[in-house]
Amino acid sequence: MARLLIVHHSPTPGLRALLDSAVAGAAAPGIDGVEVVVAEALDPDPDLVAASDGYLLGTPANLGYMSGALKHWFDVVYNPSLEHTARRPFGCWVHGESDTTGAIAAIEKIATGLQWRAVQPPLGLIGPVDDALSGQTWELAAALAATLMDA
Ligand SMILES: Cc1cc2nc3c(=O)[nH]c(=O)nc-3n(C[C@H](O)[C@H](O)[C@H](O)COP(=O)(O)O)c2cc1C
Repeated sequence: MARLLIVHHSPTPGLRALLDSAVAGAAAPGIDGVEVVVAEALDPDPDLVAASDGYLLGTPANLGYMSGALKHWFDVVYNPSLEHTARRPFGCWVHGESDTTGAIAAIEKIATGLQWRAVQPPLGLIGPVDDALSGQTWELAAALAATLMDA
């Protein structure tokens, strides 16, 4: 069974809602044979990364960058993952109140280094979390999980 690893830093109710919606999307009707594992960015596990088939990353924009938590996750898993995870599919969402471009650019640069394959454009979500924003993480997760059905 393919495994989708959702790595997130979700310290507010709004960010938690985006995560919950992504988890629901990854288990959407019609998606079979994909195990979803949810992990805190502050708890990086290179073995879990190696044992997963695709990656979905969720973070707030903080000070023009990804959260320190997600950066910490990359710091720990990057080198051990270089050999094992090239060309695996990934997606990400970044939530902010005004500007997510720096965070998205940073994630894309690291993902390029890992040779991960974006299945959807990075999702920049601005403003209070509502059903419309949550629907976008649902769609992103469903699309990524659907990709893994063929893995
Ligand atoms: C220290 C700090 C830095 C932040 N920097 C940014 C930023 O650079 N860009 C942005 O759009 N939002 C920024 N924000 C807003 C957070 O991204 C936002 O609070 C977070 O996504 C949670 O949103 P919520 O409170 O609506 O759930 C920052 C928030 C804090 C506390």
